This record gives sequence, C-alpha cells and structure tokens, in this order.
Amino acid sequence: MWRSQRFLGRAVLLMMVLATLLPGVTLAASLDASRPTVLVTGANRGIGLAFAQHYTSEGWNVLAAVRAPERATELLGLAETYEHLIIEQLDVTDNERILALAEAYSNTPIDVLINNAGVYGDIEKQAWGSLDAATFQQVLAVNVLAPMKMAEAFANHVAASDQKKIVSITSGAGMISRDGRPGGGMFYTVSKASLNMAMRQVRAELEGRDVIVALIAPGLVATDMLAVARPTLVANANTPAQSVAGIAAVIESLDESYDGTPRNHDGSVIPW
Ligand SMILES: NC(=O)c1ccc[n+]([C@@H]2O[C@H](COP(=O)([O-])OP(=O)(O)OC[C@H]3O[C@@H](n4cnc5c(N)ncnc54)[C@H](OP(=O)(O)O)[C@@H]3O)[C@@H](O)[C@H]2O)c1
Repeated sequence: MWRSQRFLGRAVLLMMVLATLLPGVTLAASLDASRPTVLVTGANRGIGLAFAQHYTSEGWNVLAAVRAPERATELLGLAETYEHLIIEQLDVTDNERILALAEAYSNTPIDVLINNAGVYGDIEKQAWGSLDAATFQQVLAVNVLAPMKMAEAFANHVAASDQKKIVSITSGAGMISRDGRPGGGMFYTVSKASLNMAMRQVRAELEGRDVIVALIAPGLVATDMLAVARPTLVANANTPAQSVAGIAAVIESLDESYDGTPRNHDGSVIPW
C-alpha cells in the first residue's frame, strides 16, 4: 500500500515535471471545481512560494506560475503531496505565453489572481550617476507591464469566479507622498508607484464587472530581494509565511466597499 502510494507520488511528480517542460501541456484535470482557485506569479521562492504554501494548506486549487519549473524544487515537492497544485511555466515578460496560459485555462474561473513576480533591478545600474536605460526597461517590464498584461489576459477568468479579485503586490517604496531616499533604488520605487497607477487604470477598465482590483504591500520580508536591496533590514523582517498570512487575510476581507487604495499586509491603508 505504502509502496504504491509512493509510486503514485513519484508518477505525479514526473507528470508535473513533464507538464512544465512541455509548454501548453497542463494537468488541468487535477483542478477541483468545488474549490476556489488562485493564480500566483513568481511562485517558486520568497513571498510567491509562501502564497503557494498558504493556499494549498487552505485547500485551494493553486496555479503556480514560475519562470523555470525545473528549478522550482520546493514547489515540485509540494505538488507531490498536494494534488490541486499545478505548476505552469511563465516568464511574465513573455506576452505570448501569458496569452497561451489564458487560453489553456479559458474555462477555469480564477477567484484570485496575485501579481507577485517582481524584480528590484541591479542596484549599481539604478544609482544616481549611472542610470541605465536597459535596466529601467527590465524593471518596468516585470513590475508594471506584466501585472497589466496578466490582468488583461485573465480578466474574464476572474470575472467568471465567485471571489473576483486581482491583487498586485506593491511596496511602501512606491509612495509618492513619502520623501525620496538617496541611493534608494530609483527604478524600483518608480516601478511600484507606476504599478499603483496601473492598477487604478485596470480598476477603471473593469468597472461594472464586479472585479476587485487591489494593491497590497507585504511589509519588510526576509527574501532574496530584501537581502540584496536592504541587507541590514533582513534580521528584523517578517518571514514570507508571516507576511502572506496577513496578506491572505486582507484579500479575504476585500469586498465591494474597497476603494482601491494600497493596503499593508496588516490591513492598514498606505498613502499613495
Ligand atoms: N521582500 C520584501 O521586503 C518586499 C517588500 C515590498 C514588496 N515586495 C514585493 O513582493 C514581491 C515578491 O518579492 P520577493 O521579496 O518574494 O522577491 P524574490 O525572493 O526576489 O522573488 C521574486 C520572484 O519573482 C520572480 N520573477 C522575477 N522576474 C520574473 C519574470 N520575468 N517572470 C516570472 N517570474 C519572475 C522570481 O522568479 P525567479 O526565481 O525565476 O527569478 C521569484 O519567484 C515583488 O513584487 C516585490 O517587489 C517585497
């Protein structure tokens, strides 16, 4: 009995790997229509992985989109024990792949789309005196354009669901109302302020479809990004699991009274 379960687990893992290596091949059969569904980008590490862990533990269908599935070892391990987790290959800057995924899941209502994937960008190349155009474009492509394209491509899936929520992970660093900080990652801060405006626009585009378009900041979280961007802050940062527990509660609390303003992981309002 135990051996056959182990064999089944390995077979599922093999299928997951094959599915992720072959674009367009998915394991949609393992979605359970009676469960809510979340789609998370950048789900292989950091806050995105914590989202996948949180929602699997809550019994959701989890569509975990990752740039390199073959390197997503923790997710692959999670998929071995949880059958309603599907790993999909997605570089969020690849619009054709976004559209292909949207097509592959055209009959799947998505309750919550979480635009989590993000980059800080090379610190030296966004330092005053050496601002680099290609780095700026890369940061904007991942942090701003990709969430817009994901919202555009998956709007129908979200509108067809019960919960109807599009959540983009922003940052207090994008607050226009706070003073600038010398050496503070100019491209990153600009990208998060832009993301906030982009989601206001998405909200306007989706008006009348009962879709909630939300901006939520995770606070300081001990991830690879923080370790590179602000290493001295890592020791006092939340773990990804702590931050995601807060964000998930905020997501759950969102209803038609929500006004679109950015929220922190503890639910407090972040000034624009
Ligand atoms: N950590 C913090 O303190 C903090 C604070 C405020 C906001 N945030 C935001 O929280 C989100 C998650 O950040 P994190 O701290 O978890 O960072 P992280 O540990 O660096 O993880 C970033 C994730 O984004 C993915 N990603 C990057 N570029 C991608 C692309 N082109 N296509 C698909 N996936 C891509 C990465 O995938 P690969 O492994 O393939 O690179 C990785 O899964 C980001 O939007 C970030 O701006 C974080």
